[in-house]
Amino acid sequence: MPRLRDLAPFRIGTEIVSDEFGRPGFDAAASTQFSQITAGFEMKMEYILQQDGSLRFEGGDRIAEFCKAHNQALHGHTLIWYIDRPATFQKLVGDKRAFDRAYGNYIQSVAGRYRGLARSWDVVNEPVADDGVSLRESLWTEALGQEGHFIRAHEEAHAADPDALLFVNEYHLESKPHKRRTFLKLVESMLKRGVKIDGIGTQTHIDVDLPPGKITEAMRDLASLGLPIHLSEIDVSFQTEGVSLKSKAEKQASQLRLYREAMESFVALPERQQFAFTIWGVRDADSWLRTATWVKDKTDQPLLFDDMGQPKETFWTLVDVL
Ligand code: G3I
Repeated sequence: MPRLRDLAPFRIGTEIVSDEFGRPGFDAAASTQFSQITAGFEMKMEYILQQDGSLRFEGGDRIAEFCKAHNQALHGHTLIWYIDRPATFQKLVGDKRAFDRAYGNYIQSVAGRYRGLARSWDVVNEPVADDGVSLRESLWTEALGQEGHFIRAHEEAHAADPDALLFVNEYHLESKPHKRRTFLKLVESMLKRGVKIDGIGTQTHIDVDLPPGKITEAMRDLASLGLPIHLSEIDVSFQTEGVSLKSKAEKQASQLRLYREAMESFVALPERQQFAFTIWGVRDADSWLRTATWVKDKTDQPLLFDDMGQPKETFWTLVDVL
């Protein structure tokens, strides 16, 4: 069977959680097909930061070891996310100096732990609000300000690991042009402030009812800054109730078309802007969509390998493009 990692001149990534190791077909596919790994959970604050303020790293360490064993790059995900509101930080909100010190210590401890192991990091994840116009409000922006929390996160991450490439990662950039504009404006303004941003991540969590051409349009737009692009979390789900696609066959045809479009638009980028193409999970059974509370159809098949780790039409479609 061909290996995606051998066919592409850029990194082909996947997302893993260490408790997936050992599941049927998982290790073989995860270790042979991909040249980059994103930790889907165990390098995040919700896993690392304990109630008492201590930090736990065994999950992230296991994933870093897996990467080393299989000559794969490790993409750290993610240092700061609006979703996290840990008590250890909440109690510092009134004291900006103390909060800033704890913020820097956390980032330094985590990015420092994986110095020389993580090739890159999503530093601030999903900074644009769902309205696509405003920036997200969070514990971090409340304590340090919109610009402050962003600038400080990049400063501390760079200080902790000067060689790591620092990314800003966002979703719905292909389906919401106004969100894409706001995202690009944010990145441009931060670059103008001298913030070290080495690339942008476009997650690409899409549904089979995304119209043709949207991914291509977004990729062209995002490439306009000249930065490396990480197509960072693609999956193509069947959650749509879209009237346009009724039968499973129609939905499967659309899924193949969308994977093809995503890879073709990535391959069309200038080589220096092709950071990595990452599929968000190895087997369908490992997809977050199988457990996401809002997902109705728990038999979703959004990835490249089936529940037993066997390649699907989606896999062969990417092979065909590469
Ligand atoms: O590993 C533990 C397991 O030991 C325990 O039994 C189980 C029940 O408590 O929880 C498991 O941890 C879960 C983990 O996924 C691994 O499955 C966490 O509770 C759960 O919160 C975590 O969800 C992750 C989610 O982000 C929130 O961090 C998903 O795996 C991950 O796919 C998802 O990824 C996000 C990206 O970070 C950002 N873009 C959107 C994407 C999808 O939501």
